[in-house]
Amino acid sequence: MHTNISFNQPRCVGREAELIAQVLQSPNTSGDGPMTKAVQAWFQAELGLKVLPTTSCSSALDMAAILSNISPGDAFIVPSYTFVSSANAFVLRGATPIFGDSAADRPHMGLDQIKAVCTPDVKVVVVVHYAGVSYDLPAIAAWCREQGIMLVEDAAQSMGAWIKVDGESKHLGSFGDLATFSFHETKNISSGEGGCLAINREDLWSRACVIWEKGTNRQAFFRGEVDKYGWVDAGSSFLPNEMTMAHLLGQLEQLDAVTARRKAIWTRYYERLSAALPIDTLPPDWRESTNGHLFYVCAPSLEKRDAMLPVLKAAGIACHFHYQSLHKSAYAQRMGWTAEAPHADRFTDGLFRLPLHLGLTDDDVDRVIDNVLHVWG
Ligand SMILES: Cc1ncc(COP(=O)(O)O)c(C=O)c1O
Repeated sequence: MHTNISFNQPRCVGREAELIAQVLQSPNTSGDGPMTKAVQAWFQAELGLKVLPTTSCSSALDMAAILSNISPGDAFIVPSYTFVSSANAFVLRGATPIFGDSAADRPHMGLDQIKAVCTPDVKVVVVVHYAGVSYDLPAIAAWCREQGIMLVEDAAQSMGAWIKVDGESKHLGSFGDLATFSFHETKNISSGEGGCLAINREDLWSRACVIWEKGTNRQAFFRGEVDKYGWVDAGSSFLPNEMTMAHLLGQLEQLDAVTARRKAIWTRYYERLSAALPIDTLPPDWRESTNGHLFYVCAPSLEKRDAMLPVLKAAGIACHFHYQSLHKSAYAQRMGWTAEAPHADRFTDGLFRLPLHLGLTDDDVDRVIDNVLHVWG
């Protein structure tokens, strides 16, 4: 009798417990304390990113939307095939979403898909690095700069993902004006819930710090620049507490080891499945570029996927479908936000993700593969 193979399994990988205990014994448990500063220093040193940690990627996106100054009458481009948070933040500022399609061979929206839907009202483009892999990113960043459009990278799934540009390795999240990361328990690096906003433009930094701290100039006060702090802009409480930061720091310290193991699992899935399944049902060969966040298979139809998932479940293997095209959502329909996005619809109907986490042995991975091949028929 086989044990069940779970879809995801959050784990302690290093000093998380020790660091959380340190916080609990200290006088600093609220936000922007020593652990927060250690997390920020880690991002700067290891990834070259200047970040403000947040309570989630969704709240980092909220900060990005406030910083973009987008307002009613403006539009923004977002992939239809993404999580609702990529769009919600900008909709909450009163802007109208324009949904871009996925490319034919991957769930990502590339530069062609962006250009196909762009209008003069567009103030922001949100790209999503699906599966922790970017698509067309340097070209999209250059085009947005030319057009005077703000680029926000939704890098929720991208911890540990790098690309080479002109021989230089750059971490995802370094290309847009702003970028957002998630540390939700389903991500490679997790603090239960959590996220951060990367700010790649010096001129946005001080306002971002104000928005982060309820719209006050509290940071300037602690630096001795003003003699009292007050309300200077719109903002909210976006900063996480110090226990969350300790949890996160313990995970970040193990990023390379976590990424290496996840990549090895991804590679095992790819090498065996690509030898047996039609190539257009699998992700492109991302063995080099992936951070091993997720591995998917795309069934040729909703009916075929709906027939396969219960059989896999009965064999003790948890596989899950992913996003539902936003332009087909109840909310978009009610608001009259229509789009033609046939490739996004194909991924909505066909795509399902295989278990991928640190609790998997190579035998587990082989058992998943054997079962997928068996149900594929
Ligand atoms: C692309 C994308 N953006 C944003 C989010 C939201 O992340 P969080 O749960 O940290 O708010 C997710 C969640 O999975 C996501 O997949």
